Amino acid sequence: MRIRVDTELCQGHGRCYVLAPGLFEADDDGYCQPTAERPVAPELADQARRAERNCPEDAILLTDT
Ligand code: F3S
Repeated sequence: MRIRVDTELCQGHGRCYVLAPGLFEADDDGYCQPTAERPVAPELADQARRAERNCPEDAILLTDT
């Protein structure tokens, strides 16, 4: 699994780094920055899916490759 954040869509709602602190952090303006090494470690896959489901802007994209 890999993570991509669409920076054009991210509005800084912050759910990603609250729900998945192992994978995301806030930049200085509160926008999402992925922190995970790619590909995502299997033990963090649930966090990644939770962040994807809860982003109100659908800015987080997960792929299998
Ligand atoms: Fe941005 Fe969505 Fe996170 S809007 S800060 S990617 S919850």
